[in-house]
Order: sequence, then C-alpha cells, then structure tokens
Amino acid sequence: MSRGVTQPLASIAEVRRFTRSSRVPSCTSNAAATSSSSSSSRKSSYESSHWNERYEKESHEWMWTFTDEENDEIELALRHFRATNLDVMDVTAETFPLSSSFQNKLLAMRDEILQGRGFAVQRGLTVARYSNKDICTIFCAIGKIMGIPVSQNKFGHVLGHVYDFGNDPLSPSTRLYTTSAAQPFHTDSADIVGLLCIRNASAGGDSQWVSSVRCYEEIKRERADLAEVLLQPFFVSRKGEIPPGCGPTYEMAVFHEVEDDRTGEKNIIGIYDRSFIDAAQTIEGTPKLTSLQIEALNYLDALCVKRQIEMRLQSGDIQWLHNHTTFHARSAFKNESEFPRHLLRLWLSPENGIKLPDAFKTRFNSTERGSSNRGGIKIKDDVKLVCPLEP
Ligand SMILES: [Fe+2]
Repeated sequence: MSRGVTQPLASIAEVRRFTRSSRVPSCTSNAAATSSSSSSSRKSSYESSHWNERYEKESHEWMWTFTDEENDEIELALRHFRATNLDVMDVTAETFPLSSSFQNKLLAMRDEILQGRGFAVQRGLTVARYSNKDICTIFCAIGKIMGIPVSQNKFGHVLGHVYDFGNDPLSPSTRLYTTSAAQPFHTDSADIVGLLCIRNASAGGDSQWVSSVRCYEEIKRERADLAEVLLQPFFVSRKGEIPPGCGPTYEMAVFHEVEDDRTGEKNIIGIYDRSFIDAAQTIEGTPKLTSLQIEALNYLDALCVKRQIEMRLQSGDIQWLHNHTTFHARSAFKNESEFPRHLLRLWLSPENGIKLPDAFKTRFNSTERGSSNRGGIKIKDDVKLVCPLEP
C-alpha cells in the first residue's frame, strides 16, 4: 500500500484543494474530479465507466494482494490458534501470532482507510484451504489488530453473515443484508466496515461505494438548498432493534460538520440509510417527509450512483471502508448454484477514529475513540458478545 500518492477523503479543506487542482487525485471517487470550474465536457469524462478504468489501473495503490509468504504466515498463525482450542471470540494478536511487520502493514492500511483514501481491498486470501471456522478466525484476527469488533445486532453477533436468508426485502423490519435484494447507498454502524467474500453469487452482488464527502461538496455547489436540508435531522427507524428506554425512531441528519480536535480542520461526515428513513414513514406519529427532503434524498441517491466505484468481490477478497466518509451499496444477486453468496462482516471501533459529533451518540452509543461502545447495535446487559461461525 503506497502512502505517498494518497489523498484524504474526510477533510473539507483537502477536498477544496483537490477540486481546485487540475489533476485528478489518485484512487478517489470520480466525484473528486468534478469542480465548479470544470467544463461540462470535462465533467462528462469522469462518468463511472471512465473512472473505473482509471481505478483499475491504479489498483496497486489500494489493493493489497497477499503474497504466498503472507498466506503461509496466516496459516502458521492459524495453526497456533487451533492448538489453543479457544473460541473465535478469543482470537487476539497473541493467540494468532502474526509478525510485527505484518501487523504494522495492517495498521498502515487502517490509517490509510481512516485518514487517507477511505477504502482498501485485500485480495488473495486462500479461503479454499480453510473451513468456515478457520476463515472466521482469520478475519477476526486481522480485524482485531485494526480495532475492536462491535455487535451487529441485538443478539451480540460481532461477526455478521451477509447472506440471503429469504427475508422479505419489502418488509419495513427487514435488514437488507439478509436478502438478495439490491442495497442502496448507506452507512453501517461503525467506524470501519469490513467484508470478507467467501463466495460471491453466480450473478450480481457487485460491491459499490462512493465518497460521501465529495457527494456533499458537489450538492453544496450545485444545490446549496438541498445540502442545507441534508444537514438537518430526518426521522430514522430502528427497525425493531430498540434499546431500553428508546422509541422506534430517532432523529439524525445525513451530513454533519465536525471540527476535528486533533487537526482543527472542519470535516464533513455522513450517516445514511434511506431504507431506515423510509421505514420511519410507516411508523405512526412520524412526521411526513417534506417535498424538499424527498428531493434532497433523491438528489443524493442519484449522485451516489453517478460517482460510485464498483467492483465484483472475489472469493478471498476483503473490502474495508471508512464508514463516516463513504457510503456503500451492492447490486441484487441470484444464487443459481448450490453454493450461495456468503460474505462475512466486521464492524470495528479503532483507537484513532475520526471525531464524531454528539448527535452520533443516539446511534453510536459512545463517541469516545477506541471504545467498545462506539458504534454497533446496543445489546442488553445479559446478552454476551458471540462470534457465530455459520449464517
Ligand atoms: Fe452496509
């Protein structure tokens, strides 16, 4: 992972610098290339297809392809862990002993995700060698070096299985990752979101993401009235995962301006899931969305699609995203073979996360950096964190 050519996603000052520049920053979404001074012909040259060609060419900057030696090192550490007979929840840097150089490379990747381009992909983990338990162990071991895994549901699951359980995507209580339906652009509930692909679908299931910061900046330039709306709270459904003492909805703006306490820079961060906003509309007592709010959300959704980066995850790929400066999505898929699409998911709370606004406490519980309580789904005191090995 080269660090010399990367560009921050989160800083407004940096975004402005990029958009004034005549050169396109390496490995950022094509939204970065569109400035108010751009000619219309220049804008059109940065449509998604064009960007994806460029993005492919620069993949060496954001993709870490595991070498044979690195895969061997992972397998050795795994053998050590197996011999301990510990539960996957107990995997640590000590029980899964990777070399310090491997760990430092993981930490550099994490810092690039948080402070640099906002995403990374690791490719070539030899998953075909391993059982599901082994793959879960490896993923948790890598994740735990980067941060603390937090619960992804009310059952305390710190390892999620992105899998079609046959749930109805049209039900307001369904979480779309449990279906085969397309997931529109959204954020999850953690600083870093990791997806490990065990098997992709025979058709569809493409992974998409976009710089939410650049989307905001573009909306602010083109439609300042809509940007202002997106800075104001929307009613959001909890889809049944309701902490004690809370109601079925809460209020949250899509974008927040936050002054970073370490750099003094004003950052924009995003928190968004249209399906949760739409689900809130089905709950009695929720005020109806205004026409301007609907227009702002539609504008944002369309812009995300226009500026997206898209790729098909391969078996053995791990995709990492900074949740606060990117939105992610996936296309619908079909399981036509006897081996259905199966991804593992981690939500991580790193020690050096971005400054979060107080408003995030509603959704993130705590905004304290490195807290095991920052992000995730709040669980009851008597629920234990677990690492389910199967969907
Ligand atoms: Fe997600």
